[in-house]
Amino acid sequence: MPSYKLTINSESISVEASPDIPLLWVIRDMLGLTGTKYGCGKGVCGACTVHFNGSPIKSCTMAIENADGGAITTIEGLVKEKEIMIKEAWIQLDVPQCGYCQAGQIMNAAALLVNNPNPSNVEIDNTMSSNLCRCGTYSRIKQAISLAAKNIKQ
Ligand code: FES
Ligand code: FES
Repeated sequence: MPSYKLTINSESISVEASPDIPLLWVIRDMLGLTGTKYGCGKGVCGACTVHFNGSPIKSCTMAIENADGGAITTIEGLVKEKEIMIKEAWIQLDVPQCGYCQAGQIMNAAALLVNNPNPSNVEIDNTMSSNLCRCGTYSRIKQAISLAAKNIKQ
């Protein structure tokens, strides 16, 4: 079985896995980081969103062989001050309903706010359209992103 080197949440690790196993499987089943969720397995729902070398990706669609050498951040690794402020905005506005999609939503929102600290409503909509929520929490997600942007700026 080939071995792959990854940096996960700032920790260097190596894993032995079949080359085509999705990164999501490695994150959840091999590393036990179960905050990242499995939804569709086809790159459609965004539940599995993590950051790969700083950009949001759908970890169900990336084979481990293509992740070799990469730096991955999962919801468990969002620990910087500004990232915590995003989570706090989520809590303040009571965003989640069942919660299943929310790790992916927050990961996508966190990447958005790094690249665009003051996103417009349209920019939020465009970015977050890749993350589905069966409970329909979209308006609270949008409010939480705006609140986080405001709090981070202060
Ligand atoms: S589980 Fe990866 S996009 Fe749905
Ligand atoms: S909160 Fe239930 S799927 Fe989004």
